[in-house]
Amino acid sequence: MAIRSKKPRRKSVQPRAVAPLNRYDIETVFGIESYVETEIRQQLRGRLVLHKRTKPGRIRIDYAGDAGGLTDLRSAVAVYGTLSVPTRRPTGLLGHGNFTTLVSKARDVMKRYPAGTFTTLSISASGKETKVIRRIIDSLCDELGLAYEGGQGDLAIALTRSSQDEPGWDVSIRLTPRPLSTRPWRVCNMPGAINATVAHVVAQLTNPAPHQHFLNLACGSSTIMIERLRIGLVRSAVGVDIDPAAIDCSAQNLTAGNLGIDARLVCADAVDLPFPNASFDAIVADLPFGMLVARNDDNAVFYPKVLMEAARVAKSQAIFSLIAVDHRSIQQATDSLGKYWRIKQTVPFKLSFKRGYISPSIFVLERSNVEVVGD
Ligand SMILES: C[S@@+](CC[C@H](N)C(=O)[O-])C[C@H]1O[C@@H](n2cnc3c(N)ncnc32)[C@H](O)[C@@H]1O
Repeated sequence: MAIRSKKPRRKSVQPRAVAPLNRYDIETVFGIESYVETEIRQQLRGRLVLHKRTKPGRIRIDYAGDAGGLTDLRSAVAVYGTLSVPTRRPTGLLGHGNFTTLVSKARDVMKRYPAGTFTTLSISASGKETKVIRRIIDSLCDELGLAYEGGQGDLAIALTRSSQDEPGWDVSIRLTPRPLSTRPWRVCNMPGAINATVAHVVAQLTNPAPHQHFLNLACGSSTIMIERLRIGLVRSAVGVDIDPAAIDCSAQNLTAGNLGIDARLVCADAVDLPFPNASFDAIVADLPFGMLVARNDDNAVFYPKVLMEAARVAKSQAIFSLIAVDHRSIQQATDSLGKYWRIKQTVPFKLSFKRGYISPSIFVLERSNVEVVGD
């Protein structure tokens, strides 16, 4: 009897479920968008589409991975999950289907945190606060058990008109109870403290490496130094400020940051540092301006002195990444000290200040090989 060989049974191949792309809007400080995009590409795992930028300070992505990854971004001010609702008028947001989706998205955000984290709601809307917006606020407060907060609520929602190509409304729900730029390590604030997302970029621009001896001049509350230490190890880290209150504030923040690295804090003048020549591989500063300068010099006198003293304590090819508002004085100072410092890169950015804006820049300087200041 002929034996018929059995044909191997084909395994049924189940189509792999593809995670859906969700839309997110990321708020940034104006001017540092490209650094945020780089961080997004480096940090996010999963299908990612970066949209072409249409507005300063705003990055839109479609992303299939876990939203939790977005809340670890260090250079982003805030991250919002965005729902595009095809309705011409905001009343459409109150329609049963749209409102149910909106509430469920808000609940998804709230569920990521312990109960009681979200107690207030804030809504920003394009245009003035109309009766309809007021009804949306009241309905959301009822449904989610939140109290309306005019300023910064725990649950922050932005309603904006979609672009012309996609008429409708975008509802953006912030993924965290505070903006990402509000760091948990900041237990002490100082007037003039720099936005931590900019500080992160300043620190990144020093090309962080574990062998580095790191110096934060005019450290204030130590925002830049703490952001550097959060990036990774250093051989040593020192913060210097002329104001004892800043040293005290830095000590509190460093302790709260629990960074596992012993940073030294020194109360000293940035133009007369108690360190030997050629001690540091990376230097950062957010130079004082206006009323925050603790010396009588103006910038045109102060900046060259700081740059000269930094050149003395910098090793050859050290990076000095500094923030300054007075571009002209930095340019003049680097022109006159061209023997020691070369401007490698300038990153202009904008920050809200009092009722307007200031336009500082990050200047990335590189120390030349000239050995000792004064040669
Ligand atoms: C713009 S604030 C720095 C803020 C800091 N980046 C932060 O986030 O808190 C400038 C700092 O420079 C300090 N400062 C002013 N003149 C100085 C000097 N001659 N030497 C050292 N520090 C100085 C001030 O005390 C102030 O803390």
